[in-house]
Amino acid sequence: MQDIQSYISDNKNRFINELIELLKIPSVSADTAFSQDVLNTADAVMKALKDAGCDSVELCETPGYPIVYGEKIIDSNLPTVLVYGHYDVQPADPINLWDSPPFDPVIKETQLHPEGAIFARGACDDKGQMYMHVKALEYMTKNDKLPCNVKFMIEGEEEVGSESLAWFVPRNKEKLANDVILISDTGMIANDIPSITTGLRGLSYVEVEVTGPNRDLHSGLYGGAVANPINVLTKMIASLHDENNHITIPGFYDKVEELSTEERAEMAKAPFSLEKYKNALDIDDVYGEAGYTTNERNSIRPTLDVNGIWGGYTGEGAKTVIASKAYAKISMRLVPNQEWEEITQLFKKHFESIAPAGVKVEVKPHHGGQGYVTPINNIGYQAASKAYEQTFGKKPIPQRSGGSIPIVSLFEKELESKTILMGFGLDSDAIHSPNEHFGIWNYLKGIETIPYFYEYFTELSK
Ligand code: BES
Ligand code: MN
Ligand code: MN
Repeated sequence: MQDIQSYISDNKNRFINELIELLKIPSVSADTAFSQDVLNTADAVMKALKDAGCDSVELCETPGYPIVYGEKIIDSNLPTVLVYGHYDVQPADPINLWDSPPFDPVIKETQLHPEGAIFARGACDDKGQMYMHVKALEYMTKNDKLPCNVKFMIEGEEEVGSESLAWFVPRNKEKLANDVILISDTGMIANDIPSITTGLRGLSYVEVEVTGPNRDLHSGLYGGAVANPINVLTKMIASLHDENNHITIPGFYDKVEELSTEERAEMAKAPFSLEKYKNALDIDDVYGEAGYTTNERNSIRPTLDVNGIWGGYTGEGAKTVIASKAYAKISMRLVPNQEWEEITQLFKKHFESIAPAGVKVEVKPHHGGQGYVTPINNIGYQAASKAYEQTFGKKPIPQRSGGSIPIVSLFEKELESKTILMGFGLDSDAIHSPNEHFGIWNYLKGIETIPYFYEYFTELSK
């Protein structure tokens, strides 16, 4: 029997190499060209769970990509931890901006990761963080240290909206019954400032299409005389924020929870350097809603952002043309209490209403989900807090994140349990961007911290 620290130092290289093998499979869920790779990744995760000591592992078919499920039940009187993660990754594009190929992992040192970081798509989001749980389970089962029951549910569609999981969960409540849900798919403030995520934003994602004339036109012959869909679309988009960067959609803020002065003061205690933030992004100033700090703007306030915009001629050289159509993809990050479907409808109604005569507007809703907040006065949070204190030597700070994991609010509704978000990535790890990476120190620290969570959660459940 070994303690976790010595188990990690003995097995460190194997832990890293196994993750590297998993990162080599391009499990891009958004692009059907990779569908076989997504399926192969599910198989690899299944095998990893078996090897780590799960008693039963299965591939659960869904209308979309399968869900990998595994469990080790040691005693039905003991609590059950349900681990959730995702084996799919974001597309790697634009590939030419990567310093090394996205699915050919390399280890390099960075300023924030002097012990090296693994560079690959999915390294941090979420293969690396999901795999920490597999290796923590391996430690517990091989050293007789598993104090309670554990279930794993690893899906392959998180990056495209978790539709199949939303189908699966209500149909498998019994199987998924648990006392706490544990997820590592978020971040922390810094390696010397541990934090636990206590909130996630919701999301409404839409695509808009503006159609002008029935064909592309010569911009000299027709320019000035008909609506140019690109001009119109950009003007419509610009009008969605006022001069204070408030969103102008009527009713948008109706259900937004306003935090008390005390809560905002508490939040403001989290260490944050505006200078470092600007330097890291190479910007001369930040930008956002008047009356709120940067940390508030990206956590407790809702936002609206264009994610992509296209139309007309974008090839080499110049082409004089008025396009028939212009398009944009728009996301709205929502805060708890805002209903995502209602916000989607408010957007649609408003966007259609501001279209000038001479164009047709179509709004196509994509996906969305509710935000989430978890109180810190529950044993799940307390167990996580004690676990971090044990391995970081410091009490973690509770912090709301700006990102979204929409399925978490569905877990709460269907499975009636709280989710604890123990993330070990850094914002600078470039998730969804070129050169995504995950610090080796963070990876191993996660593996070290997780078994303590099981231990303290089981203790506190008594
Ligand atoms: N792991 C992220 C979410 C995240 C990252 C939350 C960092 C907090 C901190 C997840 O994989 C993700 O990217 N979610 C999407 C939403 C999804 C519906 C596509 C997002 O936030 O854009
Ligand atoms: Mn993720
Ligand atoms: Mn993601």
